[in-house]
Amino acid sequence: MHRPLIAPSLLAADFGNLQRDVEMVNHSVADWHHIDVMDGLFVPNISYGMPVIKAIKKHATKPLDVHLMIVDPDRYIQTFADIGADVLSVHYEACTHLHRSLQAIHAAGMKAGVAINPHTPVSFLADTLENIDLVCVMSVNPGFGGQRFIQNTYRKITELKSMIEERKCSTLIEVDGGVTLENAPKLVSAGADVLVAGSSVFGADNPTDAIRLLAGNQ
Ligand code: DX5
Ligand code: ZN
Repeated sequence: MHRPLIAPSLLAADFGNLQRDVEMVNHSVADWHHIDVMDGLFVPNISYGMPVIKAIKKHATKPLDVHLMIVDPDRYIQTFADIGADVLSVHYEACTHLHRSLQAIHAAGMKAGVAINPHTPVSFLADTLENIDLVCVMSVNPGFGGQRFIQNTYRKITELKSMIEERKCSTLIEVDGGVTLENAPKLVSAGADVLVAGSSVFGADNPTDAIRLLAGNQ
């Protein structure tokens, strides 16, 4: 089984010790920093915005994987490129012209991701898959950390994997929400390439070890 990329979600970090927690991720086997941006409209919660991401960027040594849970994300694509996002994911449900948004993300020099809510079928991405670097399959309803994993996600990953293989594209499958040491191996064998984990990393006694275990290294 291939080793998944691990993207710890800083939403579950201690914001009073953000530099310490970013450095923990730097020194771990994690691959990306996952950054959740919530606007209180697309999702019922508000997280953090540009000044905090700039502070994270100052200390982060790994790519920033920015997950926008905001309405009309086109307004901020260039801003997120300017503050150092490497992967920028917009929500399928928040984009009227998804293809245009993907082009704008690429034109700004970032990898383009599309996140889909639990109610959105993967088949809705059939006509844009070639333009998507990463599909973020939400395995909880977005807005909060620490929620319970939705079981139907396995089916969506399997279906998405075969769509990607059929089209011979290199799109990565990311799973976000309720990822734990228990479900991680099953997600990877279903076809997940990137695991996002908030509470199962930052809530662990030893977050560095939790990251290593999620990556499949005993
Ligand atoms: C949820 C966010 C997730 C969240 C995951 O809306 O997109 O990235 O931080 O947190 P856990 O791993 O605790 O479910
Ligand atoms: Zn996220």
